[in-house]
Amino acid sequence: MVREWDPRTASSDEVASVLDTLNAVLAADLPQDPPWRESSLREYLSEVMPGERRISWVAQAEPGSDGRPGPILGHVHVLLLGDIGVLEVLVHPDVRRTGLGRELVLLAARRVYQEGFQSIGVEVVGDTPAVAFYESLGFTREYVETRSVLDLGAVDWPALAEMATGIGAGYHLEFCPGGPPDDLIEAYARAKAEVRDVDDGELRPSSYDPQRLRDSLDTLHRRGMKPYIVLALHEHSGEVAGLTEVVVPAQHPTRADQYDTIVVQDHRGYGIDRAIKARMLLELRSAEPTLAEVQTWNAQANEAMLKVNAELGYRPDREWCEYSVDVAELVHRLDAAR
Ligand SMILES: CC(C)(COP(=O)(O)OP(=O)(O)OC[C@H]1O[C@@H](n2cnc3c(N)ncnc32)[C@H](O)[C@@H]1OP(=O)(O)O)[C@@H](O)C(=O)NCCC(=O)NCCS
Repeated sequence: MVREWDPRTASSDEVASVLDTLNAVLAADLPQDPPWRESSLREYLSEVMPGERRISWVAQAEPGSDGRPGPILGHVHVLLLGDIGVLEVLVHPDVRRTGLGRELVLLAARRVYQEGFQSIGVEVVGDTPAVAFYESLGFTREYVETRSVLDLGAVDWPALAEMATGIGAGYHLEFCPGGPPDDLIEAYARAKAEVRDVDDGELRPSSYDPQRLRDSLDTLHRRGMKPYIVLALHEHSGEVAGLTEVVVPAQHPTRADQYDTIVVQDHRGYGIDRAIKARMLLELRSAEPTLAEVQTWNAQANEAMLKVNAELGYRPDREWCEYSVDVAELVHRLDAAR
């Protein structure tokens, strides 16, 4: 049975069942990734930025002979933001290739169409069944990044400590657990407007104005995701010359996510990229003692950032692709195939 599902009001058993399916998917498709935990999963699935909406559906197996509800074997949600619907679909490996994934996409696509949105985007992990799945539905590849993973157990900490201090005169670094201090929010937002060197996936919206930045930090906290920031401050002007953001999610706290790393154009060439990332890792080592890995996403053309990441010990892991499709075409194609 497929039905619309609200994670806010769902029973704990249902949330736990979605978690089981997610972990079965990870074990099948990304076996090196840490399994997710239930901690703040409900909030992760339900909290959104102001002005955005997430709509979810689940596919639930029939009740067992004891009358207890069956497990949730499929889950789809679509996040409506700007003019695009961002889709995520999960089908338990035990029931794949039965048409469930296609059915879930059609449900979400119909709603996105009715809501007046033009296109659907989706992140697709390279070398998994999702590539053939989305291509079979007519999605086309827009953008490819490389995910890299850093094993903190293999880091050369003395070398890192040296990198963290190898910054030009006239700058100093500040570590800000939880987010930038309020008196630096405006300078921080100005630096974020420099998007050339982002370490970030395209579907993850960056926040360029102070209010949006506050909202974005607040949303992260509500979703159980703890941001850490290292800033490079230009002492003369008080401007934020560089920043790097890492988020430790309650759902997989042993593997953190690197978000944006930005060095403002006028402040390039002073070792800021290397220093802020090295300082971040040193700080995380004491702030998050259970953290074992950090993952980051880079455009393949971003050679400068890939070089610094390699020096820090990041190893390329997978292609991470963005696909998109015109919603009206997708709905017509799927309806016609039924
Ligand atoms: C991608 C996914 C949703 C597909 O679900 P599914 O229920 O197996 O898909 P369907 O049965 O509806 O398949 C529809 C079509 O997609 C294509 N397809 C799906 N899986 C495929 C595979 N492994 N190889 C080749 N083609 C495939 C086929 O054309 C298929 O039609 P067919 O079976 O008639 O040939 C599922 O594999 C999944 O949940 N993957 C994880 C996705 C994810 O987001 N992961 C994130 C963490 S890794």
